[in-house]
Amino acid sequence: MTTTAVVGTQWGDEGKGKIVDTLAIEGGIIARYAGGPNAGHTIYVNGKKVILHLVPSSVTRPGTINIVGPGVLVNPDILLEEIVIAQAYGSTVLLDPAAHIITPWDVQLDKLREAASGGSAIGTTLRGIGPCAESRTGRRGIRLGDLALHVGDLHAALEARNYAAERIALIKNYGATPMPLDGLVVWCAGFRNLTQHFGDTRAVIHETIGSSGYVLFEGAQGEQLDIDRGTYPFVTSTNTGIDGIAKTTGVRRFDKVIGVAKAYITRVGNGPFPTKLDGELADKLRELGHEYGSTTGRPRDVGWLDLVLLKYAIRMSGITELVMTKLDVLTGVRKIQVAARYLLDGKPLDRLTTLTTEVLNRVTVEYVEVDGWQEDITCCRSFSDLPRAAQDYVRFVEREAGLLITMIGVGPERDAIIMR
Ligand code: GDP
Ligand code: IMO
Ligand code: MG
Repeated sequence: MTTTAVVGTQWGDEGKGKIVDTLAIEGGIIARYAGGPNAGHTIYVNGKKVILHLVPSSVTRPGTINIVGPGVLVNPDILLEEIVIAQAYGSTVLLDPAAHIITPWDVQLDKLREAASGGSAIGTTLRGIGPCAESRTGRRGIRLGDLALHVGDLHAALEARNYAAERIALIKNYGATPMPLDGLVVWCAGFRNLTQHFGDTRAVIHETIGSSGYVLFEGAQGEQLDIDRGTYPFVTSTNTGIDGIAKTTGVRRFDKVIGVAKAYITRVGNGPFPTKLDGELADKLRELGHEYGSTTGRPRDVGWLDLVLLKYAIRMSGITELVMTKLDVLTGVRKIQVAARYLLDGKPLDRLTTLTTEVLNRVTVEYVEVDGWQEDITCCRSFSDLPRAAQDYVRFVEREAGLLITMIGVGPERDAIIMR
């Protein structure tokens, strides 16, 4: 058995959920390690669409043990809903008591800050991620483990280190009315039931690895949204790449690090996007690919596959193999463009340049054009079923990336996948 990680290589929404659902077919331990309810992972179970935000995308696989790790920022309302889904499918959810809770104060602050930011807004999912992550790093937030406290102790935990008073003052500073502290205590106390799902998730993960069991880590977001390596400040607040795993669970040896890339690329929210498309083709791909946020419903910006970003993600996260999703969406595009390299001030960008927002805002893109195909590929189940031009596209990306593409998505449904 293996220790495998699935990470996004772009700006999120690469189709990680479907890949995790596929890889969990034989059970095992599956762990979310980063992000929070900003994530939206879509899977199809017997034709039914299920969107998950906090628990791993394997919860509809009976017998799986699904971990919400210590690095996940948790909205308890959403967690409760998703535990019900897991129970209905006969899987288990295990919560780490060290995971931080996103409070209504955090959600309110996220909304107020974004609204007040005008042209410099990040375009967040408004799920309270940034404010919660601040409290976490500032060592003053509340955690799932605090839900086990009695009301008086919960009150004291929220007041400790001036946490509640500062949050309330911050919200009032925007002229808004915060939930009072007593209200927040009652709100927290309402989630005491979650304590029955607590477990020592690190111990479970390490014991499973020690006994050669299957452990699968599910990434949220993508490399370019990583707080340390992405397009700051247009990023999220956790480590979305591979190091999010080591940082929070202590696992740092992997048999496979699977990088998921769409056959094109999308971004939702603000920030640089060198290969962004406008006009008719963008609209067509958005409609064909149903490129609307799984969490917010916002239309996603659409662009050509970017090999510079892909190679960066491979290097930064130590990716060992690739998955290409949504190849079917490119059907009918006569000539496909792929970003091959960037020019900065007229000179090719050095291979190892760190792709900061400043760099990405200034580059011009050189494209390679490859032939498209017209045939419907949604029924293809083996590589040789694909039209020659589609095979050539996959092989071209493999050659450029220097890694094998081991799975190819040809539709949203569970079985719409080519295994190689
Ligand atoms: P995630 O956040 O990375 O899990 O991805 P999302 O669920 O946010 O977005 C991916 C979308 O593409 C979802 O609507 C999936 O159902 C869909 N999807 C995944 N793989 C494929 C594929 O190979 N082809 C098509 N057409 N849709 C796919
Ligand atoms: P999955 O796991 C796509 C984006 C937001 C915004 C930025 C910061 O489904 O791939 P935040 O709410 O985290 O403070 O927003 O990050 N973002 C995502 N974009 N997919 C996601 O998750 C995302 N999670 C956050 O749109 O640009
Ligand atoms: Mg998503």
